[in-house]
Amino acid sequence: MTPQDRLIIALDLPSIDEADAVIDTIGAAGSFYKIGYQLMPIGGLDLARRLSGAGKKVFLDFKFHDIGATVERGVKSICALGGDFLTVHAEPDVLKGAVDGRGDDPRLKILAVTVLTSLNQQSLKTAGIDMKLEDLVLKRAEFAAKAGADGVIASAKEAAAIKARFGDALLVVTPGVRPAGAAADDQKRVVTPAAAIAAGADHLVVGRPIIAADDPAAAAAAIQAEISGAS
Ligand code: C5P
Repeated sequence: MTPQDRLIIALDLPSIDEADAVIDTIGAAGSFYKIGYQLMPIGGLDLARRLSGAGKKVFLDFKFHDIGATVERGVKSICALGGDFLTVHAEPDVLKGAVDGRGDDPRLKILAVTVLTSLNQQSLKTAGIDMKLEDLVLKRAEFAAKAGADGVIASAKEAAAIKARFGDALLVVTPGVRPAGAAADDQKRVVTPAAAIAAGADHLVVGRPIIAADDPAAAAAAIQAEISGAS
């Protein structure tokens, strides 16, 4: 896998025009883009089709969470749209619905969201979850593996433990990545690109450090160089 394919650039922007401007600025160095809630309702699905048509990879971060039958129908519709990664919550029924909905689609990979990188041990306690954060990540990764999902979203802090237990059976996709010295924003389990790759992450999801940079192309290139150096 190239460093370009390992870096997923999160298009967390208020309009399709602004997303297009970032995509144009980054040019050939950007090969994998994430579309989430912000763009989804305002043309994000058409953008996903366009990016796919232009040969880019697309991560649809829609975090589906519903009864299994509804998730299954939703994922079938996503297959028709075309996409490479889709996130769902890491619950057995949700994962089964997603895997059934994906069927034998050769392209779409189902990723289970384990524990958001904006949460820490204290956040779990506040939510009434009395479990060690890493144990919860591993438990949810096990749900993903058992259901036949393709990977998980987790922080790089848990990547080594996930790889140790599941090997290549699960892709590890990690947000919460920050180049040394960059602002953490609302992320709590933050790791540098090099450390994330060294810990076993397959893909890094990076938003604000690239899209809010004065020079998004240079920011993306610097992270790709760091990925390359750590691979
Ligand atoms: O701007 P930043 O690099 O923090 O963006 C990270 C991206 O990864 C955001 O689009 C966020 O929605 C997403 N994400 C996350 N934690 C997860 C799953 C997705 O931060 N567990």
